[in-house]
Amino acid sequence: MANETKKPAPCLRREVDEQGIATLTLDCPGPVNTLSDALNAEMDRLISEIEADPKVRAIVLVSGKKDSFLAGADLEMLSRVKTAAEGAALSRGGKALLARIERSSRPWVAAVHGACLGGGCEVILACRYRIATDEKPTQIGLPEIQLGLLPGAGGTQRLPRRIGIQAALDIILAGKSVNARKALSLGLVDELVPAAILASVARRRAAELAAGTLQAGEGGRPKLRAVRKPNALARLALEETPVGRRVLFREAEKQLLRKTRGNYPAPRKALAAIRTGYEKGIEAGYEAESQGFGELTVSPEAKQLVGIFFAQQALKKDPGVDDPAVRPLPVGRVAMLGGGLMGGGIAYVTIQNAGLSIRLKDKDDSGVGRGLAYVRGILDEQVQKKRRTRAQADATFSRLTGTTGYDGMKGVDLFIEAVFEDLELKRRVVREVEAFCKESAIFASNTSSLPIARIAEASRRPEQVVGMHYFSPVHKMPLLEVIRQAKTSDATVATAVAVGKKQGKTVIVVRDGVGFYTSRTLAPYMGEAGFLLEEGASVEAIDQALVQFGFPVGPLQLLDEVGIDLAGHVAKIMLEAYGARMTPPPGFDRLAKEGRAGRKNKKGFYLYDGKKKKQVDETVYDGMPGGRKRKPMDPEAIAERLALQMANEAALCLQEGILRSPRDGDIGAVFGLGFPPFRGGPFRWMDAAGVAQIVRKLEGWQAKLGARFAPAPLLVDMAKQGKRFHGA
Ligand SMILES: NC(=O)c1ccc[n+]([C@@H]2O[C@H](COP(=O)([O-])OP(=O)(O)OC[C@H]3O[C@@H](n4cnc5c(N)ncnc54)[C@H](O)[C@@H]3O)[C@@H](O)[C@H]2O)c1
Repeated sequence: MANETKKPAPCLRREVDEQGIATLTLDCPGPVNTLSDALNAEMDRLISEIEADPKVRAIVLVSGKKDSFLAGADLEMLSRVKTAAEGAALSRGGKALLARIERSSRPWVAAVHGACLGGGCEVILACRYRIATDEKPTQIGLPEIQLGLLPGAGGTQRLPRRIGIQAALDIILAGKSVNARKALSLGLVDELVPAAILASVARRRAAELAAGTLQAGEGGRPKLRAVRKPNALARLALEETPVGRRVLFREAEKQLLRKTRGNYPAPRKALAAIRTGYEKGIEAGYEAESQGFGELTVSPEAKQLVGIFFAQQALKKDPGVDDPAVRPLPVGRVAMLGGGLMGGGIAYVTIQNAGLSIRLKDKDDSGVGRGLAYVRGILDEQVQKKRRTRAQADATFSRLTGTTGYDGMKGVDLFIEAVFEDLELKRRVVREVEAFCKESAIFASNTSSLPIARIAEASRRPEQVVGMHYFSPVHKMPLLEVIRQAKTSDATVATAVAVGKKQGKTVIVVRDGVGFYTSRTLAPYMGEAGFLLEEGASVEAIDQALVQFGFPVGPLQLLDEVGIDLAGHVAKIMLEAYGARMTPPPGFDRLAKEGRAGRKNKKGFYLYDGKKKKQVDETVYDGMPGGRKRKPMDPEAIAERLALQMANEAALCLQEGILRSPRDGDIGAVFGLGFPPFRGGPFRWMDAAGVAQIVRKLEGWQAKLGARFAPAPLLVDMAKQGKRFHGA
């Protein structure tokens, strides 16, 4: 097709066919395309050339990468921003470039396959027409909020004008991305095609737009699509009138405050920019967006969230072992032993995300049936939510088979057990499996509290025994904690890590020990809540203090969910392993003895009588000092005590080599325990306060409340030397 080919440029290639359709291929050095200073400059130059070229009638923008269109701004570039003014200028520069695309006399068509995120999504919004492939890698969205930023290249203005305010708020304020089908139904793209014909259809549409035979997508929402929706009229009334919009924005602000408790400035600034655009005109909206973007690029919240993002990226590349020569073993077949809550969830992520087949064993038919039904339930829900088609769900489900025996498991490469939490049972399962499995098979346990070494004692091949600790509900919780005991081989660890990543998990590797990392740091955190109750604090005061600090739920509500009885059981194990520091508060045991197990028996800190509003069960105070008469306590002091307990224990884990790095400790706490992401995890939180300050606080509480606040020796040393966990 090319009758004119330019010399390949670092990020963009240009070809113009005989019809005058220019194809710009994004192909930056590196695995994905990102918006960088270099790409911006090159794009700017190419636009000028195109505008000056009378032969060019229309432009098609495609990607030269396999499964990625344009993954957003180069975060390294953003990390170099030193002032808000610099950040705002960067945003204005990006906008100026996209304005050139939007206002070009030649129509631009975006042909999207793969990730089209952040700045990528903003680029396609500036194009006249958007085609995407209806394939799994295609994801379109604006994830900036998750990094503490906002879409700074016009996304806060163009998206609501294209898909409607409410729909745009859903995406922008949550930092969401959508798949191709959803993007089509929202009007975010105009057409879906298979990947094989993406470029050719895009060129045809470009030619039609240039010829004036295709009018679609000329700014604004495709109106037909909007009217088809049942609530479209109500929506239009709300969105298309100033009064309606005021109501909508006010409601959105309220909801946001409820959700973020004022801890996250990014969604607030994004919402303000959108609102400004509607109340004062789009140019004012663009400027509010740039200002907000500038301020956010240098905010502490963005710094921590971007830090977490980099840590996640680093973990994706981390094989979980230090020896770079170690390779994971190939895993083609997996067996799930135990099809309860956890087994069902693990089976689901294995067939859906990893695309592997799995055989699920439970002890009887009803157990197998329950496990299969659990997986089916998740798939059905996704069909209902239009995340996948019925045929796709059926194809996924066909990779799962059930059994009550070990039949059909001879060729299995990886066994994952999630039977009851009972050491003898787990050991028996190891022996049963080793009686028939192939020599190379790996045995992984999902135990939440038993040391993996104790399970491995039953094995003839302890080097192939490892912990794979998932979190409930498995299909939603992002973390997997892989646990290596003294004898676990590097190859086994690397294999568990590789499988976990395929299952879509963020994986940290920790050393064996009671409670591993996550349960161990959670224990003194929960315990502190119990001590506060004994001192007279109310359940609400404790939970609200931690929610305000940024945890998704308070510790006592979490205890109701986990089970007060189970937590009491784990607390005893912790005490045995770690001594006086882990002495549980006296109250928890008493509550468990009273038969308070939490939500599961509808008897816990809160009432479970079907009423919507969460209400504390006042009788929970009856055996406590002070009874139902509770004392007011400073919420900041409450949050500080609990957070310090968690962070101090995390430091001990690092000191003892349970953790491989502070990075893993931060990721484990944020993704496994709900530690507030904007605080970056316990180690980043301590860095932000200064380790010396943390030590002073711990010593202050130690003087008042006793040895459980004794600072970890590592912290004391670091404080003396003025060291940090991250960075110099
Ligand atoms: N529930 C959680 O939040 C959570 C989180 C992390 C880890 N874990 C751990 O995961 C494991 C399972 O927990 P769960 O919540 O899924 O429990 P569960 O009671 O829901 O499921 C256990 C399943 O194992 C089956 N089972 C028992 N003996 C078996 C055998 N010999 N062979 C095959 N199946 C057998 C049971 O029938 C049941 O279906 C436990 O070790 C638990 O500590 C649980």
